[in-house]
Amino acid sequence: MNTQQFIPNSQGLEKSIEKITFSWKTPSNIALVKYWGKSNPQIPKNASISFTLNNCHTHTSIEFSKREKSTKANFELYFEGKKKDDFKPKIAKFFERIEEFCPYILEYGMVIRSENSFPHSSGIASSASGMSAIAMCLMSLEKELTPELSEAFVRRKASFLARLGSGSASRSIEGPIVVWGEHPEIENSSNLYGVQCEGKIHPFFENYQDTILLVDKGEKQVSSTIGHNLMHEHPFAEQRFIQANQNLSKIYKYLKNGDINAFIELVESEALTLHAMMLTSHPYFILMKPNTLEIINAIWQYREETDSKVCFTLDAGANVHVLYPEVEKAQILQFVENKLSNFCQKKQYICDHVGLGATKL
Ligand code: PMV
Repeated sequence: MNTQQFIPNSQGLEKSIEKITFSWKTPSNIALVKYWGKSNPQIPKNASISFTLNNCHTHTSIEFSKREKSTKANFELYFEGKKKDDFKPKIAKFFERIEEFCPYILEYGMVIRSENSFPHSSGIASSASGMSAIAMCLMSLEKELTPELSEAFVRRKASFLARLGSGSASRSIEGPIVVWGEHPEIENSSNLYGVQCEGKIHPFFENYQDTILLVDKGEKQVSSTIGHNLMHEHPFAEQRFIQANQNLSKIYKYLKNGDINAFIELVESEALTLHAMMLTSHPYFILMKPNTLEIINAIWQYREETDSKVCFTLDAGANVHVLYPEVEKAQILQFVENKLSNFCQKKQYICDHVGLGATKL
């Protein structure tokens, strides 16, 4: 695997900048074919594909100040205006991992200020948007130090760096649909970074809607790091990895030919399969809550009673992502408000839709 391409040529980094700040807004994403299982360093066991979101995002600025070169990254971290030392170990580990690819970070003090658009501890993973935002700020510095870098390389390397912080973060740089993981039928796909889905997507999927139902806002009982690791000894792992790659071939086709019924069946099956992996690992665990199942059943019933194309997917948690075409927005929001929100904590949900990826502020 060619990681060499991401090690900067030291001659190119001779430019000196005393102080500079960059700010980026990067979104969360929701996988349609799930990534669950990896090997070191953050190499996925199968390819995955996601919709990039828009309204659920992280807004991060990093102020870089030149300092004596040190042996480890120096940074302060503010989250929603307050110093947040308990997030520091994760970020410190991330900086250690990427040091080889961003040696210049050792020559700067960094003040990181970050905030999420979605409520704190809503059960929505902020690692994808958070890590991709830091990666974009670092790449803005690298571009400033090495102006000849192309925009395409900057984004590709940002996805590569974000992946080393959180696998799914590699899919949060671009939009509206991103594939991460090597796949024989997807040109330029890579285990190292996410790539935009090429070719024309069927108009049906344009501006696709995602209403996120906040079923459980608490800390997850089992982190995704532990969950991924449990796939190592999992009795169904190999079959699952094969299936996911096959599902990716299928969904790629549906996204282009607009076969919405096949899309729905595949997306829901992927969500349940992800959770089936959790139910059948050792130790086994359950992240869904009773209300997750209530919502799924209500969606199935609604689909049976109407000609709606609404469907659901799940992340590694109890919240439900309700996916539907834009033409159904008014009816589905009414259905959510009248029925589904009753299964949410404090009736809370977030209205989002597919977006285009990282934006410089
Ligand atoms: O990026 P991680 O390590 O938090 O893993 C994310 C895994 C899922 O969200 C469950 C699936 C996915 O592909 O996003």
